[in-house]
Amino acid sequence: MAEKHITAVKGMNDLLPEATALWRPIEDKAKRTLSAFGFGEVRTPILEKTSLFVRGVGEGTDIVNKEMYTFEDGATEGKAGTLVSLRPEGTAPAVRAAIEHSQLTQGALVRWFYLGPMFRRERQQKGRYRQFFQVGAEIYGAAAPQADAELIDAAYSFLRQLDLGELTLEINSLGDAQCRPKYVEALIASLKSRAADLCPECQRRLETNPLRVLDCKSEACQRVTADTPTIDGFLCGGCQEHFRRVLELLDGLGIPYTVNPRIVRGLDYYTRTVFEFVSRETGEGGLGSQSTVCAGGRYDTLIGDLGGPATPAVGFAAGLDRLALLCARNAPASSGPDLAIVPLGDAAVMKALQLASSLRREGLWVDMDLRGSGLKSQMRRADKAGARCVLVLGDSELEQGTVSLKRMATGECVQTALEPDAIRQALQS
Ligand code: HAM
Repeated sequence: MAEKHITAVKGMNDLLPEATALWRPIEDKAKRTLSAFGFGEVRTPILEKTSLFVRGVGEGTDIVNKEMYTFEDGATEGKAGTLVSLRPEGTAPAVRAAIEHSQLTQGALVRWFYLGPMFRRERQQKGRYRQFFQVGAEIYGAAAPQADAELIDAAYSFLRQLDLGELTLEINSLGDAQCRPKYVEALIASLKSRAADLCPECQRRLETNPLRVLDCKSEACQRVTADTPTIDGFLCGGCQEHFRRVLELLDGLGIPYTVNPRIVRGLDYYTRTVFEFVSRETGEGGLGSQSTVCAGGRYDTLIGDLGGPATPAVGFAAGLDRLALLCARNAPASSGPDLAIVPLGDAAVMKALQLASSLRREGLWVDMDLRGSGLKSQMRRADKAGARCVLVLGDSELEQGTVSLKRMATGECVQTALEPDAIRQALQS
């Protein structure tokens, strides 16, 4: 049956003004912090060829396997179209753009950031949505551990400006093409011996993406993986040294962390460093099982895999929906207009609109009731909106050229000329 009221698509949220008022300062802090680190903003399309994510994020991942919104674009009779997907993440699109616009020339060091919606058809729950927003940052062209450290410092500097409560940084090294296969082999051998105890999903993962078994939230799988081998014992000399130096640099920067050899990440492109900032807030205001607010790592082979020049890279993305949920715990009630103008009569409406227009051009928040209501109703509205000051404009004020500005907190009235400059000064004094 047709819906009477058409509702939003499941897992995709409307952000009403109360929410965007909370989101905007978070986005501003991200942009300001990343600009201070020299990251330039890129905006890539929301739709990309599906093959970008199949090759970039990995065929064995949940994201590519079952969570992408994919359709065939431009099919005509007798001619297949192109498979395109709503982007599930921002790293592969940014790399595609960097290659396409020849940004990765020999010796280049590129710092990019992006902010925007991503799409994954996941099971919806608190902190997990089908359209969600990320702010992400990527560094291309630096293989040295100081790039990992600077990138983590950028994420940490941003996150610590927000009221997020207790947050921990968990970090691991996933090794590289030289050492990781040996670990995966040992892991598979260990998991196979207890395959029957794994959840059905992980029995499948054992064949397609065994590392992800370590990440499974099911208690049965966690019991199995509690004593499987961890990667730290398998890292080659180069990876060990890289990881040691990253940790040393984080110590030097005063960024606290916990090494967690079980962090594996849900995307296939990582090499060496991987990390997650996890919220420890519990209860009502916490994020429950969706507690990772920011995550990333090094991906030294992705650019080459996507057809670009072999270029090392490292990046992170933070989930704005989750950050906003945490910030909402203690958010102060929003403040009201600087001034409410209450005009009475047609002549006063004209003057009030002119006055409001010039004060607004100065950046003041001026409210007016646009419905032609009477004095009482307009005063009630000004009070409810939390206006700091109220100015009543009737025939006598127009004749005399003066008005009385009432400060709502104290009830005090100040006489001032009916001129934008005089009113602005009175508001600011
Ligand atoms: P990711 O771990 O898939 O990494 O996502 C990063 C963050 O996005 C998560 O920690 C979480 O805060 C948020 N997030 C992910 N999925 C959802 C969802 N369904 N609903 C709400 N928030 C979500 C990446 O996307 C990588 N591209 C990060 C990266 C950048 N690695 C290197 N550079």
